[in-house]
Amino acid sequence: MKDKARIDSQISKLEEKYKDSGQDLSSYLDGLLYQRYLTYWDYIHLDTLLSLQVPRTYFPDEEIFIMYHQITELYFKLILHEQKQLVDDKSQRVEFFIEKARRINSYFKALISSFSIMIKGMEREQFLQYRMALLPASGFQSAQYRMIEIYATPLENLVHHTERNMFSSENAVEELYEHAYWKKGATDLTTGEKTLTLKQFEYRYTPRLIRIAKQVENSTIYDKYRQLPEKKRHNKELVEALKTLDMNANVNWPLMHMGSAHRYLGKEAGEIEATGGTNWKEYLPPSFQKIVFFPELYTKQELNNWGKQWVDHIFNPDKIRE
Ligand code: HEM
Repeated sequence: MKDKARIDSQISKLEEKYKDSGQDLSSYLDGLLYQRYLTYWDYIHLDTLLSLQVPRTYFPDEEIFIMYHQITELYFKLILHEQKQLVDDKSQRVEFFIEKARRINSYFKALISSFSIMIKGMEREQFLQYRMALLPASGFQSAQYRMIEIYATPLENLVHHTERNMFSSENAVEELYEHAYWKKGATDLTTGEKTLTLKQFEYRYTPRLIRIAKQVENSTIYDKYRQLPEKKRHNKELVEALKTLDMNANVNWPLMHMGSAHRYLGKEAGEIEATGGTNWKEYLPPSFQKIVFFPELYTKQELNNWGKQWVDHIFNPDKIRE
């Protein structure tokens, strides 16, 4: 009897819902009757997901390389998912800000701690061979990585550090974008010629990245932070969470990543060119790029020492966060 009353009430609510949208409830109930039961594998598109690891060579470890890149891109998507909510937030609730920043940090932590899959989990001999079949592709072409940067901080903070003081928010988005640090890294400084890896990336993604940069002008995470009332800006937990985010994105992840470059392309193996064609030993160290999302949170000295842990890291990689 109790169940019947509940179902009657649900039906009248459904009638209300479909009446409001000019739809016929009875047809939808037929749909419910004929629908198949949902399964786990259909819901998460498991067969599609597991069909996406397609190596280009016969070396077994290439599949590890593909899968770990895919896992990372999914984590990047999780990070962007939280960043977008912060960019869209109008509430200025400090608890919301902290919660989102903490989630982003937990995703970065998972990525940082799992990088051993790359550093220790593949045979170098295999890597050095199958990578030749991947030219000129490079993780450098990860658009989501660039999006994380664009959502985090105004473009002027992503300008190459040697030119950063020549630019400000007064410059047009297109101009700032052209001077992004990563473009310089993939350009031959004597001829001014861009690498093929960069040219292909630009052709595919420039319109999209410029559109996003314009969309988040004055509402990046750094802007959102600076727009908070002064008292909220001094919230200790918030400042801590944002500094950790900066460290994770611009020091800890880059250091773990650079560890894999050293392991596979480093001096024991001779001078090996990266697939993306950058001078990677100068391009990858965070202390050389000095990318900082939230510069106002640091002292001058902290900014000068940005990413200096890398010396430690190269000689003693286990010292950097497990
Ligand atoms: C054995 C493993 C890896 C090696 C040896 C390696 C090597 C490199 C090198 C040398 C570069 C500089 C660009 C170039 O010239 O190609 C680079 C850039 C990059 N790689 Fe990797 N990589 C590895 C794994 C990964 C993974 C798993 C990801 C995850 C998506 C990734 C994402 C990136 C990104 C985002 C950049 C650009 C970084 C920046 O602009 O600061 N890499 N990688």
